[in-house]
Amino acid sequence: MCGIVGYVGKNKNAMKVLMDGLQCLEYRGYDSAGIAILQNETIEIIKSKGKVSSLSHKLKAKGIVESELGIAHTRWATHGIPNEINSHPHRQGSVTLVHNGIIENYTQLKADLVLQGYSFTSDTDSEVACGVIDSLYKQYRDKHKTLQQANAMFRGSFAFAIVFDDDIKTLYAMRRNSPLIVAFKEDEIYVASDVPAILKYTNKYTLLEQDEYAVLTKHEVEIYSLQGTRREYEIKTAAMEVVDIQKEGFDHFMLKEIHEEPKVVSETMRFYLGDGISDLMSRLPDLSIYKELYMIGCGSAMYACMVAKSLIESKARIKVELEVASEFRYKNPILTKETLVIVVSQSGETADTLASLQLAKENNVDTLAIVNVVGSSIAREAKYVCYTLAGPEIAVATTKAYCTQVALLSLIGLSFSVIYQKVSKKEIEEIINEIKNIENTLSNVVNDGQYEVAAKIISKFSNVFFIGRGIDYALCMEASLKLKEISYIHSEAYPAGELKHGTISLVEKGTPVIAIITQQNILEKMISNMKEVKARGASIIVIASEDLEVDLDIFDYRITIPKSNSYLQAITAIVPLQLLSYQVAMLKGCDIDQPRNLAKSVTVE
Ligand code: F6R
Repeated sequence: MCGIVGYVGKNKNAMKVLMDGLQCLEYRGYDSAGIAILQNETIEIIKSKGKVSSLSHKLKAKGIVESELGIAHTRWATHGIPNEINSHPHRQGSVTLVHNGIIENYTQLKADLVLQGYSFTSDTDSEVACGVIDSLYKQYRDKHKTLQQANAMFRGSFAFAIVFDDDIKTLYAMRRNSPLIVAFKEDEIYVASDVPAILKYTNKYTLLEQDEYAVLTKHEVEIYSLQGTRREYEIKTAAMEVVDIQKEGFDHFMLKEIHEEPKVVSETMRFYLGDGISDLMSRLPDLSIYKELYMIGCGSAMYACMVAKSLIESKARIKVELEVASEFRYKNPILTKETLVIVVSQSGETADTLASLQLAKENNVDTLAIVNVVGSSIAREAKYVCYTLAGPEIAVATTKAYCTQVALLSLIGLSFSVIYQKVSKKEIEEIINEIKNIENTLSNVVNDGQYEVAAKIISKFSNVFFIGRGIDYALCMEASLKLKEISYIHSEAYPAGELKHGTISLVEKGTPVIAIITQQNILEKMISNMKEVKARGASIIVIASEDLEVDLDIFDYRITIPKSNSYLQAITAIVPLQLLSYQVAMLKGCDIDQPRNLAKSVTVE
């Protein structure tokens, strides 16, 4: 959600670093982009509506030359429409900044600044933040005091990169509830929203902690607490490499990431499973003390929790409450010492999920975070953390990270079944053998071409329904989200028995209804539900496991998936649904990796 990059260095590399950084960060927002760069001893600002490429053209036309300092931003609009005026960097008085996050009390702060004589051109909270910093600096003439006081005045979330006119060789950075890293190369210092932005230049970095600020020159990095105490920092080495954030011959990151699923799911499962159940138990927190789970996330992460709830309740027979993070955070939840709160997040920065975690902690219950990004805020705040090993995910729509979330949650489900003696030794053996082969199984699904015909049927309609029961309904929710977010086709997921209680009135001649069936015990019921919509003209696409017989006259097209143990079936079943959405979006010519209005890593409420 908005990307920030900044550079100060002796090699006068600012333009290249900023533009490369913005390209890498574009998945965080792509409404508009801008840079502020040191040119002839003054800070010049160039902004453009639209993607980073349109900023690039503008910079070329203006003949901006290399420089030793600059800050840049790619925006996902929160306050004010995506236009050039609202895009960053913003400037007030002698201060120029880029901002990620939301200053919640900006209206009040703005009114105070107007009384002081400030005027504003944009609708953004960020320009107000800039005014606050400028006004405080006029008062204190001390940058440390200014930043400390500004931090105290801001409510909400922020990551800033700031330049003061009277100190144009220094970058200032400050954060709360939005991530910011500082990265190092000899006599070159970078600040960025995340590691991929600077990976082309260096893999050495450190994280700014909550409410810290940093003073960065080409020779030195100083990190301070809010109280102004300077601290030592540890330089970390990023595990990812430049190839991890390139398309490597695929048309889209989304397709590349789906093709990585066999490997990353297998790696995640084998990492936790090791040599068997005792390794699995030792690599997870002691789950035997919990009698109830809360599972919390947003979007796909929440749908991964929904799969897990279905699995854990039906198999291990322990109660799981499922919560959307943006709802949970404002509840007064009933949590006991025997409750484990599991929060799930790819980015580890999602504002609502982070707030839910904090609420759980305030209630003194144990928390476990399932996170993909190492060292992210959620990973650092939770009592326990288990990482999914999906690697960097660039496409805005999650695929491989979701799959690894489901995979890891399935292993957690299996552990509960072992603890509560609900799974036999024989079944455990079967599951372990399947996991050993899961890379192969998923590779076959990924490389299957069954989806194109179904995609053609779906792409001609503007309304689609997914139906399923139990765990298949949870898969329908994720499949439906994937289809609507990247192809812009309206789609709804329904428990198969529920459609006739109202929504079936929307089914007309040809309306695609996609039925997911992976369980023998509900096959007959699903067949009845498919017949109900078929009788009303629907085109039925059935996605069923290979062991299930469905008569040819019931469906228009069938996609068959391998039969897996019920602990693993959701993982194999989701892959065709992701590929189906991808194919539909391709047929419709959509911007698959960066769908309209969206951004990855939602760090605002
Ligand atoms: C959908 C998607 C989103 C995310 C959600 C949570 O394809 O990617 O629904 O799953 O924004 O994000 P994380 O997992 O980073 O907390």
